[in-house]
Amino acid sequence: MHLVEVTEEIWRRLLMVREGKSCLCCGDFSEGQQAALALYGPLSRRDVGPLITGQIGQSLDGRIATTNGDVGKVSGPDGILHLHRMRALVDAVLIGVKTALHDSPQLTVRHCEGPNPARVVIDIRGRLPNDSPVLADDGSRRIIIQTDNTARTAGIEVIRLPATNGAIAPSAITEALRSEGLSSLLVEGGSFTISKFIEAGLLDLLHLALAPVLIGNGPAGLNLSQPDAQLEMAIRPETRAFTLGSELILECGLTKAASASAIPLH
Ligand SMILES: NC(=O)c1ccc[n+]([C@@H]2O[C@H](COP(=O)([O-])OP(=O)(O)OC[C@H]3O[C@@H](n4cnc5c(N)ncnc54)[C@H](OP(=O)(O)O)[C@@H]3O)[C@@H](O)[C@H]2O)c1
Repeated sequence: MHLVEVTEEIWRRLLMVREGKSCLCCGDFSEGQQAALALYGPLSRRDVGPLITGQIGQSLDGRIATTNGDVGKVSGPDGILHLHRMRALVDAVLIGVKTALHDSPQLTVRHCEGPNPARVVIDIRGRLPNDSPVLADDGSRRIIIQTDNTARTAGIEVIRLPATNGAIAPSAITEALRSEGLSSLLVEGGSFTISKFIEAGLLDLLHLALAPVLIGNGPAGLNLSQPDAQLEMAIRPETRAFTLGSELILECGLTKAASASAIPLH
């Protein structure tokens, strides 16, 4: 278990690494600061990767909401801060339309210093209203992944991609975003969207933010459509545990790119 200490100096360093103006290796750091570099470094570095990272804020028993859909208080302040730090380090944050409709997120960086990422919503049928908070004009890029011809307000970019059986291949989404200069991605939810990326073998890293709460029932963070019936076939990521205030962050490396980006800890 690694206790994370994000000092001002460390956060400035991580933002500079994101800009390609610093490295993660030089310096004299405390154990807690090194843990902070290990936790956030893979998202900020651009010399390897860039990575596609998922984040799930969940209870100790793996729930992301209550049975009536109350998500508001699953993550505590430390979990929220963690999410905002992740946003500040990536090129774009991506969500499914159900999260955009249900939670009305802004997807901006408000709890720490750092740039707002581009915001991307997968909304193949054009269900998201143009006046949704996630589409608000604040200078950041706002992108909708759509299959239909729903009209969008000026300034909202539309990427049209074909769907097969109602689903767009995640690889088509990442390729289209890469051609727009958006390579390092945070897939923020919900479970449908993150699960599709895992099934496609495209999610490099997953951060599970465990809040000290037991909900007892409710939706799970992941729902793979064909979970392996045999336990020995289940996904076994390379996992490290970090303590961030009241929350436990489990870093799960799922691909070779995640291993290549990992910052070693002793
Ligand atoms: N605790 C957390 O960390 C967290 C984070 C985010 C969300 N949430 C919760 O999760 C819930 C929503 O999650 P969810 O799993 O139901 O939905 P979701 O992932 O937010 O959105 C799923 C919808 O997005 C569209 N979509 C996503 N990927 C697609 C693809 N590859 N191709 C085509 N369409 C795609 C589809 O829209 P159509 O239905 O139009 O086909 C799909 O039904 C909300 O209650 C939210 O509060 C929790």
